[in-house]
Amino acid sequence: MEVRLQKYLADAGVASRRKAEELIAQGKVKVNGEVVTEMGCKIDPKKDEVTYLDKKIDTKETKMVYVMLNKPVGYVTTAKEQFGRPAVVDLVKGVNARIFPVGRLDYDTSGLLLLTNDGDLTYKLTHPKHDVDKTYIAKLHGIPDEGALQKFRRGVTIDGVKTKPAKIQIIEKDKDGRYCVAEIIIHEGRNRQVRKMCEAIKHPVMQLQRVATGDLKLGDLAKGKYRHLTEKEVKYLKKL
Ligand code: URA
Repeated sequence: MEVRLQKYLADAGVASRRKAEELIAQGKVKVNGEVVTEMGCKIDPKKDEVTYLDKKIDTKETKMVYVMLNKPVGYVTTAKEQFGRPAVVDLVKGVNARIFPVGRLDYDTSGLLLLTNDGDLTYKLTHPKHDVDKTYIAKLHGIPDEGALQKFRRGVTIDGVKTKPAKIQIIEKDKDGRYCVAEIIIHEGRNRQVRKMCEAIKHPVMQLQRVATGDLKLGDLAKGKYRHLTEKEVKYLKKL
């Protein structure tokens, strides 16, 4: 059966599907010895030989790996970092596969980050049409009043586009009003979205941690540690 080249690369754990498209466009992928840069290209995994940077790809060898990491502050989620800062992939060195973060968390955000070599799942989970709830615990400057909370819930304009309705609930208040802790649930994944939304209601984020993606919870996983997902958790993600 024929498959699209970028899907084939993603399934083989070379990169996420979107990243694979970039690799193809950059001329790093060959099919039967010829560079292919066109995106619609389909291949037959049984007949065609595909190489990435001239290394043969073999999907039969690829075992899917799904990991949950408790990302500490001070790590980047990109694999290659221009400023030499530590990367989350360094924290999962014990995993015997090339795995990639599913989406991203800011350098200064901690918490639940999924990593996998299942490019198909990454593609699904990061696609805007899949509204997976992401739950954050945020420490905010000051204490938003009811008006500010309502504004947040209805959606605020960031980078010229209004955010979808979101949830916010204050779970702890400083007695002198200097800060509060809030549980925030959003289902979009725009760049620095929670931080920008909190800025928009004039209660900027002091600390931010992701504690859940859909039903998957960080639980008591220690900072900087990872665990493999259970079969049940993987099934759940694939069904989303
Ligand atoms: N929203 C943010 O502002 N930062 C993150 O890392 C995740 C969501």
